[in-house]
Amino acid sequence: MADITTDPFAGVEHVPGATKPDPIIVADGIVRSFGGLTAVNVEHFEVQRHTITALIGPNGAGKSTFFNLLTGFDKPQEGQWLFNGKTMRGTSPAKVARAGKVRTFQLTKALSGMTVMENLRLGAAQQKGENFFRAFVKPIWRAQEAEVTEKAIELLHKFKLYEKRDDFAGELSGGQRKLLEMARALMSEPEMIMLDEPMAGVNPALTESLLDHVLALKGEGRTVLFVEHDMHMVRRISDWVVVMAEGRIIAEGPPETVMQNPAVQNAYLGAHHDTDLSEEAEELVEELAERLEGGAE
Ligand SMILES: Nc1ncnc2c1ncn2[C@@H]1O[C@H](COP(=O)(O)OP(=O)(O)OP(=O)(O)O)[C@@H](O)[C@H]1O
Ligand SMILES: [Mg+2]
Repeated sequence: MADITTDPFAGVEHVPGATKPDPIIVADGIVRSFGGLTAVNVEHFEVQRHTITALIGPNGAGKSTFFNLLTGFDKPQEGQWLFNGKTMRGTSPAKVARAGKVRTFQLTKALSGMTVMENLRLGAAQQKGENFFRAFVKPIWRAQEAEVTEKAIELLHKFKLYEKRDDFAGELSGGQRKLLEMARALMSEPEMIMLDEPMAGVNPALTESLLDHVLALKGEGRTVLFVEHDMHMVRRISDWVVVMAEGRIIAEGPPETVMQNPAVQNAYLGAHHDTDLSEEAEELVEELAERLEGGAE
């Protein structure tokens, strides 16, 4: 029997939809179509608790759509999923957040016009599921404000944004925005955090710091699911990799070996045939070559 105390993935099969020893998320039969296009068609998906799982795949594979479904921002036509054993089907984003699962968001125009500190306060308001603006005038909110401020200051120091606390979020550099997005998500002390391309557009000087922060989330006992195109980053921080192509999960495995899977290589090359077919194609080419040689004699 595999030793799960050292490697939570020991004994987990390297196959799409592999079952995990202690899943925080279990999804089944998730289908999301846009018109005639099936963007997501995931038969089975599990995320192991207290680990960092990377979701990779070529452009248009359905990664972001799948994220939107898992966080309640979009509804699938079919399927169901559980978070900590509780059904999340039809659950609103606020309720999903309150259940302990949070996703970071890109800074919208409205958020860019607020200060760094205000953004963090918003993170706390989201936790309570309250309307942000109403929350600010509620007496009950004032009572909680000291606590929220204390937490915000702690996170500002941790993410090296304390000096920027009164600056507008829109004035931050790309990397600082990513840090702010992560800090804002952490205001609600989520059990699980989902990051869609956390490194996109980040200055290399800040990449290391972001990597460390993602690793630290796991150290704090949180579960991380992130989408990323940069394979160097995937190899460095993830414990497990799930590969999507054309809406489906086509492979799963450890970061060191998952890219060697022919199905993954084909997906990235844009070749949609399977291995058997390419063997067949090879035979055809050989046969053709032989015939050509024969004809030339
Ligand atoms: N709201 C929408 N309406 C119509 N089609 C959509 C919508 N959202 C996504 N799609 C389509 O669904 C497919 C999956 O898109 P998605 O954004 O989930 O891919 P992705 O894996 O995140 O890609 P990328 O790596 O480029 O971010 C694409 O073909 C996309 O055009
Ligand atoms: Mg995407």
